[in-house]
Amino acid sequence: SRTVKLAVIPGDGIGPEVIEQANRVLDAVLLGSGVSLERTEFALGAARYLATGETLPAEEQAELARHDAILFGAVGGVPGDPGLKDANIERGLLLKLRFDFEHYANVRPCTLFPGTASTLADPGEVDFVVVREGTEGPYAGNGGRLRPGTPAEISTEVSVNTAFGIERVVRYAFELASRRPRKRLTWVHKTNVLIHAGATWQRVVEAVAAEHPDIAVDYLHVDAATIFMVQDPTRFDVIVTDNLFGDILTDLAGAIGGGIGLAASGNINPDGAFPSMFEPVHGSAPDIAGQQKADPTAAILSAALMLDHLGLEAEAGRVRSAVRDDLAVRGSERRSTTETGDAVIARIPPR
Ligand code: NAD
Ligand code: IPM
Ligand code: MN
Repeated sequence: SRTVKLAVIPGDGIGPEVIEQANRVLDAVLLGSGVSLERTEFALGAARYLATGETLPAEEQAELARHDAILFGAVGGVPGDPGLKDANIERGLLLKLRFDFEHYANVRPCTLFPGTASTLADPGEVDFVVVREGTEGPYAGNGGRLRPGTPAEISTEVSVNTAFGIERVVRYAFELASRRPRKRLTWVHKTNVLIHAGATWQRVVEAVAAEHPDIAVDYLHVDAATIFMVQDPTRFDVIVTDNLFGDILTDLAGAIGGGIGLAASGNINPDGAFPSMFEPVHGSAPDIAGQQKADPTAAILSAALMLDHLGLEAEAGRVRSAVRDDLAVRGSERRSTTETGDAVIARIPPR
């Protein structure tokens, strides 16, 4: 028997609603497996900030670091809330965890399960993974604002791209492509305009590609990548790209793969020095929060990615097959968040 120390950050808005269902599914799939979860819940997010002024106290971050994995819902308050004027929960909590815990491989699969309605009329067999760099690029927070509020205001947002940071995520993406049957890798950037970062990315990708002669590599500018993603998403296998391009491409991928309510992600620290963190691609959705309208599937599939990462591939497979079976019959049925949790749990194949 094995005990997994799991940190849970439900967060704000629909975060707690979808995480509740992911936790129920985890309990159902691990029942009788010999693996038990020892959960610690962390009340972090906009609600915590509004109540206490705290975003991520150092001692809570240190406690998070002592867990085997983190399951994260979503954070972000209601737009325009005056109490959040000086807060930046996204940077101060979510990005801080991704950066400090070196979640350099932000893995976001896009699989169109049979029976699922895509935004596209005839998408074909979609099954690709975006590996988004998670610790640098335009997200680094470098820059500044001069003479704010004046006509002479100047703001800069400097993208940070290190050979070290690029190489580790590119290697991860190539290794992932090696384990997939199609053995294709597309790297996406904007080398025609972002010439400095683009050149470093190109140098590193070419060097790593030379070690992987079995992988078919191609390159797309990010604008063209959006065309192909909509016109023929079946051409993609593994995509590797920078932090901001990956953010945008994975919302698009979510819409293609049956909706943002299905899109899962893992913020992976492959070296295992820090806990990896699993979360739906979507946000706190204040427009539907508290109404049991959110689809918990993205959170449930994120929990499956977590099981994979913990070496519990069989359990992950059982969750995915339950989701697959449910999606095959779900159609456009209107369901509450809990009802979708129930439906998935009912389809977990017996061990
Ligand atoms: P969002 O993803 O929260 O919502 C976009 C749209 O998708 C909304 O119409 C919402 O109702 C819908 N949607 C999202 N998840 C859904 C689900 N599971 N089921 C059904 N519909 C769903 O994006 P946004 O509106 O741009 O952001 C809202 C807040 O969330 C902001 O504060 C933003 O910064 C934050 N955010 C947080 C994360 C995160 O914590 N990982 C990710 C993205 C956005
Ligand atoms: C995501 C979100 C985050 C990002 C925000 C909330 C910081 O959009 O996880 O995709 O941009 O990475
Ligand atoms: Mn995003």
